Amino acid sequence: MESQKCVKLSSGHMMPLLGLGCFQSPPAEVTAAVEAALDAGYRHIDTAYNYLNEDAVGKGIHAWINKSKGASKKEAALRKEVFIVTKGAAHDKDLFPKNKDGMPNNLDYGVDHIALWKEMEKMVDLGLTKSIGVSNFNPQQLRRLLAIARIPPAVQQVEMHLEFQQLELQKFCQENNIIMTAYGPLGSPGRQLPGDAYKPQLLNNALVKMLADHHKVTTAQVLIRYWIQRNVVAIPKSTNKGRIQVNGDVWGFKLTDQEMEALLGMNKGPSCRSFRQMSSLPGVKEHPENPVELI
Ligand code: A2P
Repeated sequence: MESQKCVKLSSGHMMPLLGLGCFQSPPAEVTAAVEAALDAGYRHIDTAYNYLNEDAVGKGIHAWINKSKGASKKEAALRKEVFIVTKGAAHDKDLFPKNKDGMPNNLDYGVDHIALWKEMEKMVDLGLTKSIGVSNFNPQQLRRLLAIARIPPAVQQVEMHLEFQQLELQKFCQENNIIMTAYGPLGSPGRQLPGDAYKPQLLNNALVKMLADHHKVTTAQVLIRYWIQRNVVAIPKSTNKGRIQVNGDVWGFKLTDQEMEALLGMNKGPSCRSFRQMSSLPGVKEHPENPVELI
């Protein structure tokens, strides 16, 4: 992939700035979505054990490799093109088991991020992964890892959208050579949220719409392009082929400095965080490593 479409990680590897998000993508749909994304030029797919769709994601990659390989492009070369992000399993059976009172009964209040990180480093040593990073960590948690890491976290993946730009975390990550990935860059319009949850309305925001019209693109493309221009990786989720193609078509226009500044001005801070559901589960809010409560 062309280097201007990638960012260099502290691991030395290049990471594509645009990825396909697969959170809440049903297995029955995600295979075709992944194949469509690779067809459309995406070379980065984001999944997790907890999304329960890793197998189906793998099938999509396999289908694309199978149909793309030939005399000029060998399978090994195609495999090298694809950057896959996944996240470790918190546990290996029921994802959110509850006791008889409906309370989560698998919360590990003694979780040791340092011990976990050392295991992650071993995975690099064993050649099981090329780069390692974290997700939903706050600066205190990152600092603790950075203090002991033999291989520092290359990436931090968190919710980021125009109204919740995580500017302090961006500064911290920049200072520590950690690349950020924005999940929910479109404001997650399809997610079912409790009544009082903050629901960003970015796809029909007046300023975003004005810039989209000016550049003859969609509002989704502006929302994605903004992060890419900030050197932040963006992983819009879609299982719709047409939307996957449009979201991936962000290389033919450039937001001006003035436009970037105007979009920066939309930031309202943590009150616009929309991924709070975990915190509303009993026992999670009080967890010593709950990153949201610590920020
Ligand atoms: P769908 O999968 O049907 O396309 P986010 O990445 O911010 O979490 O947003 C994902 C949500 O946005 C999904 O519900 C997805 O639905 C929808 N979506 C993805 N791309 C677009 C687009 N270009 N226009 C409108 N909605 C979109």
